[in-house]
Amino acid sequence: MSLQLKNFHVIVTGGTGGLGMTVVSEYIRQEATVVTNYRDPAKMKALEDAVRNPERLTGIQADLTSEKEVHSFFQEYRRKFKRLDVLVHTLGGFWMGAEIADTSLEKWIMMQNLNLTSTFLCTREAFGMMKSQCSGKIFTVASQTIENYPGKMGAYAVSKTGVMALTRILANEGKSYNIQANCLVPSIIDTEENRKAMPDADYTQWVTPKEIAQLFIQLSKPESKALSQSVLRVYGKV
Ligand SMILES: NC(=O)c1ccc[n+]([C@@H]2O[C@H](COP(=O)([O-])OP(=O)(O)OC[C@H]3O[C@@H](n4cnc5c(N)ncnc54)[C@H](OP(=O)(O)O)[C@@H]3O)[C@@H](O)[C@H]2O)c1
Repeated sequence: MSLQLKNFHVIVTGGTGGLGMTVVSEYIRQEATVVTNYRDPAKMKALEDAVRNPERLTGIQADLTSEKEVHSFFQEYRRKFKRLDVLVHTLGGFWMGAEIADTSLEKWIMMQNLNLTSTFLCTREAFGMMKSQCSGKIFTVASQTIENYPGKMGAYAVSKTGVMALTRILANEGKSYNIQANCLVPSIIDTEENRKAMPDADYTQWVTPKEIAQLFIQLSKPESKALSQSVLRVYGKV
């Protein structure tokens, strides 16, 4: 296996999540140095136990919907590491809610904060670092709902549409600084949580965290410079 990401510096937000855990593990398998945020120390410990070389992994406790905490997270990152090659922002969340007419402002804001504001805050910090080093790659995660806009998922779908738009803007702004930004758009990811929530579903149709992680790895490689501003559909067979 050629390790083209050896000694790359990567931030994976949401590394304790269903997708994030696999993304962290796959970058570490490539011998990259990975930093993630966490909220619950027990979940961070579980992540450390799951990866093959935990010495390549650093966890920083932070709520990444808070501007202050995102700033402290990146400050601590910069204290430890001088450069940032890749940001993978997996952090986000789903709310299977109500029709727009029945959506509370509280739920609406919660979805925008968790998905869109967290992406804005983290990519803003990462872009700043990448701009000063004149290189870098940013990956964000939206959802299939940005294409089919199903009912009762309005707050989520709008927040993820914002994530996609923000990523495309970053890609345009990144052209002058050799920064590429792409947005991954999964259908249903084959996570433990989804299997619990949909026990009768056919999991073989879903996209796996490993398939998504491997795409991130592929696109992080130094030779992958042409792809930017793309909306990458990773739907499996859904
Ligand atoms: N699962 C799917 O089928 C699916 C489909 C399409 C798109 N997506 C998107 O793919 C991404 C990953 O999904 P997933 O299923 O892996 O989600 P997940 O298992 O719920 O993981 C979310 C991660 O974000 C962290 N997080 C949530 N709120 C946070 C906050 N305020 N501050 C800091 N960390 C926070 C969680 O930390 P804790 O561990 O502390 O909770 C966890 O690490 C998300 O953006 C999601 O919207 C998922």
